[in-house]
Amino acid sequence: MGRRGLFILFEGCDRSGKTTQSTRLVEALNESGVKAKLVKFPDRTTAIGKMIDEYLTQQTQLDDHAIHLLFSANRWEAMDQIRTDLESGTTLVVDRYAFSGAAFSAAKRLSLKWCKAPDVGLIAPDRVFFLDIHPDDAAKRPGYGEERYEKSQLQLEVRAKFFTLMDKSWTVIDAIKDADQIHSQIMTLVKRSLDRHEEDPAPIGKLWT
Ligand code: TMP
Repeated sequence: MGRRGLFILFEGCDRSGKTTQSTRLVEALNESGVKAKLVKFPDRTTAIGKMIDEYLTQQTQLDDHAIHLLFSANRWEAMDQIRTDLESGTTLVVDRYAFSGAAFSAAKRLSLKWCKAPDVGLIAPDRVFFLDIHPDDAAKRPGYGEERYEKSQLQLEVRAKFFTLMDKSWTVIDAIKDADQIHSQIMTLVKRSLDRHEEDPAPIGKLWT
């Protein structure tokens, strides 16, 4: 059997360029012969995802704990597919994950320990890119402010929470730079991770265990 795929994650505050960079990375990997697929959380297409979308677009109100658990359930419902894809050799490029879950809810003053608990045991990412942008710069980007959490003070607190969640699998990228420059920096690092994985493959890990 061939090598499993890698789980590459993009995290960051709102409007930090995650969607642009994750999409470009998938295209570039596929063009270079590495089978890759984009996965995005929240996945707003499922029944749970639709509830999340209604909350984010301010059509409904939910208790902070309840919405936190829905975000987590939205990841758990994707785990079978994620495992299948990784095991079949597809590299997954994931736009947000449990770190967003913990950072956003903890910024709303839920305890970080409580916030992490429902996501313990999810499939762990192999490599995380944190696109770092100051919320004042993010606020200048098009479309900012349309969704519930796009407020500078909350985003500042989210950014601080992200920094408490980082470990050695994370790389902080200066997201104010030009998109092409960021893309080539990430592509170089991902190629290195793929080469290392080819020589010394690691088994699929479990998050926060
Ligand atoms: P998006 O803009 O990347 O679709 O993310 C939607 C918003 O939901 C964004 O403000 C971050 C927030 N979020 C959480 O609060 N918890 C989560 O678990 C995830 C994945 C996102």
